[in-house]
Amino acid sequence: MKTVIIGATGHIGTYLVPRLVEAGIEVIAVSRGHRAPYHAHGAWQWVERVEIDREAAEEEGSFGTQIARLEPDVVIDLISYAKDSTAQLVEALEGRVQQFIHCGTIWTYGYSEAVPTTEADGKRPWGDYGVQKKEIEDYLMDKARRGNFPAAVFHPGHIVGPGWGFINPAANRDPEVIRKLASGAELDLPHFGLATLHHIHAADVAQLCHGMMTHWGQAVGESFNAVSERAITLRGYADAVARWFGKEANLKFVDWQQWQEGKSAEDIRLTDDHISHSPSHSIEKAKRLLEYRPRYTSLEAIYEALDWDTKYGELQGLELGGTC
Ligand SMILES: NC(=O)c1ccc[n+]([C@@H]2O[C@H](COP(=O)([O-])OP(=O)(O)OC[C@H]3O[C@@H](n4cnc5c(N)ncnc54)[C@H](OP(=O)(O)O)[C@@H]3O)[C@@H](O)[C@H]2O)c1
Repeated sequence: MKTVIIGATGHIGTYLVPRLVEAGIEVIAVSRGHRAPYHAHGAWQWVERVEIDREAAEEEGSFGTQIARLEPDVVIDLISYAKDSTAQLVEALEGRVQQFIHCGTIWTYGYSEAVPTTEADGKRPWGDYGVQKKEIEDYLMDKARRGNFPAAVFHPGHIVGPGWGFINPAANRDPEVIRKLASGAELDLPHFGLATLHHIHAADVAQLCHGMMTHWGQAVGESFNAVSERAITLRGYADAVARWFGKEANLKFVDWQQWQEGKSAEDIRLTDDHISHSPSHSIEKAKRLLEYRPRYTSLEAIYEALDWDTKYGELQGLELGGTC
């Protein structure tokens, strides 16, 4: 089975490509060729690499036909952010592929009415990213359910992997947050620290995506949340990180206005984005229909990334003691 992965050398592709190759699937990896997968893997020697700049090719109207010319049985599109972009591809692939898998995001849900949020719940996204990803999903589901196109969609939470920056207990990427927890220094968290985050290890994203291929009949016309078993609260997350460094979290809870004082615009933007969504999603559908069994809890996935960061990354010098 020939599978074309668009955006194959990024965070997801680094795990997905070796997984599919090991399953005996022929993989063609499409990217601009600017970067390599962030973990080397012998499987890449069996992968055909095709360099296409999607944006440039879309502008000249050739992206869809360039992908169709590769004669894929399956296309996995990891990097579409607008309906027109997906539509150009779909129009070129209609009647020619067995399956088309699109990578969405849990931001398509907006806020949750009840948690854990299931795929059957209503969606009220805000912000260009979530709104446009939902437009893509609606378009693809409509196509699939009319029987015109074998599309399926998965929605990752905050993806984690060793060697890749991760969303921390203050719901941003500021390394000082981890340093404070590691040293027992005071860390301020917005509200009562009860906003939630929902991570997933990149290897589990790959597992779920592969499951959509092996369970074709269950996946086509459907969307699936791609997250760990359970979401975590900022407070619980902070407690765990401090514990891994042999400390007790020294937390101060402040209101949102106060929390923003002295923080960078980027940290405020990221924290605001994450706590206003406070994702907590169900994976029951993927478990039932795709036999999805995440290998990592949220904290196990984060521990692995943090371990890497303290050994090789920006947190070198910090000593991670306990186990997860
Ligand atoms: N990261 C998260 O936590 C998260 C959460 C929810 C959903 N998602 C979804 O995950 C998807 C992104 O996957 P990822 O995290 O694996 O992406 P990523 O790490 O940013 O990797 C992007 C990939 O696309 C390629 N690429 C970028 N621009 C390109 C272009 N113009 N033409 C062709 N190839 C291009 C890159 O290689 P080159 O640079 O060499 O071209 C690379 O292979 C998105 O759909 C996003 O909405 C991510």
